[in-house]
Amino acid sequence: MPDFPIKIRACGNLGLNLPVLGLGCWAFGGGSYWGPQSQRDVDAVVHHALDAGLNYFDTAEAYNSGDSETSLGLALKGEGRRTRAIIGTKVSPDNTAPATLRAHCEASLQRMQIDHIDLYMVHWPIKDTGATVQAFDTLADLRREGKIRHIGVSNFGVQQLDAALATGATIAVNQLPYSLLSRGIERHILPLCRDQHIGVIGYMSLMQGLLSDKFQSLDEIPTVRTRSRHFAGTRPGSRHGEAGLEAETWATVQAIRKLARASGAPTSDLAVAWSAANPSITCTLVGCRNSMQLDANLRALDLRLATDLMAGLDQATCDLRDKLGDGIDLFQGKGAGRTF
Ligand SMILES: NC(=O)c1ccc[n+]([C@@H]2O[C@H](COP(=O)([O-])OP(=O)(O)OC[C@H]3O[C@@H](n4cnc5c(N)ncnc54)[C@H](OP(=O)(O)O)[C@@H]3O)[C@@H](O)[C@H]2O)c1
Repeated sequence: MPDFPIKIRACGNLGLNLPVLGLGCWAFGGGSYWGPQSQRDVDAVVHHALDAGLNYFDTAEAYNSGDSETSLGLALKGEGRRTRAIIGTKVSPDNTAPATLRAHCEASLQRMQIDHIDLYMVHWPIKDTGATVQAFDTLADLRREGKIRHIGVSNFGVQQLDAALATGATIAVNQLPYSLLSRGIERHILPLCRDQHIGVIGYMSLMQGLLSDKFQSLDEIPTVRTRSRHFAGTRPGSRHGEAGLEAETWATVQAIRKLARASGAPTSDLAVAWSAANPSITCTLVGCRNSMQLDANLRALDLRLATDLMAGLDQATCDLRDKLGDGIDLFQGKGAGRTF
């Protein structure tokens, strides 16, 4: 348990205030991606997070076919936990036609056994402009009805966020990938969110464990976690069709680890602290499967990154950043990204 208060940052002036570190709940419920996940560990990590003041919980209807939402809802039962928690969940873009969206919102509420969702995000951009208008109108209705408190988006690029804002929607948050190995949001979408007073929730701050000390080569990483553009497009399940940047990625990880060793902190601490130190990132998500991982990631918040260390991390990661480019979609090829 940290002996310091967790910092809070506001998403514009909408009344949504998020802790600088949020709990990613994708693994909750277990499933083919993350493997088995016990409810006992979920209960413990959720209760521990709340006690530490880390009260943002991030899930989605798509995570483990709804089981992540069910598991989170169970963990938040009793002892006033629900009222202390801020729950963010996401609807998949294919489910955003008005009647379907209503039904899916209701299903999420039922799975979590709650009467409102604090932050309801569209998980990926909706392809069609007309459908975008209808979706955001329906979300505004759901907010007026008290089913949701705030509207958010996820993985929306500059043009897509502009189109969503043009519907008149009040958008509290854009959830985007952000880590030392994925800095594509820095040049365009992050400044736009800042200018529009839209909060940013950064996801995959540990690149699913790659930004820690536990893997000794890229081949030790579980196959499902090697689908991003960092890895060769020939890896199983990959969809981006590119050569990948494996040598550059591994060299970058090694350089970050070297800086971590010199600073005396574990690599994961540096990765979490680096994202949380960015004032444009309202909340940094980290998936924690148990209280031990949560404690390690909480500890990172106490780390002050000196100016020369920040400069070193920038230098160590900018070549990979430039090679990956400004795209947001980590999983689709440059020309075919779902985000623009
Ligand atoms: N909006 C979107 O499209 C989107 C996409 C992806 C994720 N997300 C959200 O972002 C959250 C975080 O992303 P993520 O869970 O995919 O990736 P992540 O936070 O980068 O990595 C989480 C994984 O790293 C391992 N881990 C956690 N703490 C660790 C530590 N201190 N040292 C070593 N390993 C540690 C755990 O897995 P193991 O113990 O199994 O190694 C954990 O499940 C998700 O849960 C989800 O809520 C959103």
